[in-house]
Amino acid sequence: MTKHTITLIPGDGIGPEVSAAVVQIVEASGAQVEWETHYAGAQALEKFGDTLPQELLESIKRNRVALKGPITTPVGKGFTSVNVGLRKALDLYANLRPVRALPNIPSRYPELDLVVVRENTEDLYSGIEHVVVPGVVESLKIITEKASTRIARFAFDYARREGRKKVTAVHKANIMKLSDGLFLECFRNVARDYPEIEADDKIVDNACMQLVMRPEQFDIMLLENLYGDIVSDLCAGLIGGLGLVPGANIGELGAVFEAVHGSAPDIAGQGIANPTALLQSAILMLRHLGEREPAEKIEKAMLKVFEEGRVRTRDIGGESKTAEFAEAIIAVM
Ligand code: NAI
Repeated sequence: MTKHTITLIPGDGIGPEVSAAVVQIVEASGAQVEWETHYAGAQALEKFGDTLPQELLESIKRNRVALKGPITTPVGKGFTSVNVGLRKALDLYANLRPVRALPNIPSRYPELDLVVVRENTEDLYSGIEHVVVPGVVESLKIITEKASTRIARFAFDYARREGRKKVTAVHKANIMKLSDGLFLECFRNVARDYPEIEADDKIVDNACMQLVMRPEQFDIMLLENLYGDIVSDLCAGLIGGLGLVPGANIGELGAVFEAVHGSAPDIAGQGIANPTALLQSAILMLRHLGEREPAEKIEKAMLKVFEEGRVRTRDIGGESKTAEFAEAIIAVM
């Protein structure tokens, strides 16, 4: 088995607690991993005078993979988001969010299993805004052939690798004929190279209604940045919320796997945080590294612990501590 060096960013708030649990589980799975721990955000600012130290970026570029806990972003003042900074610095253009229902977790769709792929670098998030005249502002939506093509290729490659059957592009090309039209055209061009994978598309408002009424019709959804941001959280809500789903930001220079929830300052330091989201991100990371065996071992053990339902953290109706949940999974493995 190949040994992998992984950059570990424990984060702050509940970050160090959930990271410790996940590291323990990954090591117990037999995966050959070595961690390079780095700080980011307020902790790094205090120690190195920079929220996103160069050493951290170098470490990710060298190892090409990182596991990251949540990092607090001060509201309305202080430094800009480290999460956004990381995406920009490493050109992590693809945001991947697999959404699958877990046993024994209340959800309207206990069979749901879909994947949201979101373009991460452009669209209305380019941040190009200006005042035209007082009382009128303009915010530019940038869509390029290059970014639309590479994200479509990412979605189809992922479908091929993971044995998924269909990719649905979600857009509003009936109104934004040029921008969303280009996104859709690039999707259709790329789809021709993957004849074994079904390709279809839906207008975003209809796609949202369909998601709520009949989500099982979707397999992989492919979206621009803004629609992707909204729809990926909507999908997390379909199966029990942000505390459970994994996430990854992937680019040519590296891939950062992270929980999508925040640093939960209200419960930090109490040892009661749910490590499931970060654990699922670690499973995704092991698959990305080609370590399918340990990934499956952890996933099976985690599903078993959910099925049994005896050990569950407070956010999902239990009383167990973070460490007890980790120990239960390790015991099953
Ligand atoms: P949050 O996700 O930290 O918390 C929302 C609620 O969910 C809280 O009640 C919290 O206790 C609960 N929660 C979240 N994760 C949990 C877990 N693993 N186990 C049990 N309960 C959990 O969102 P909030 O309060 O809006 O943000 C707090 C800070 O986190 C902010 O500074 C924000 O900028 C940052 N943040 C960082 C992210 C990242 O690093 N990827 C993502 C989102 C927010």
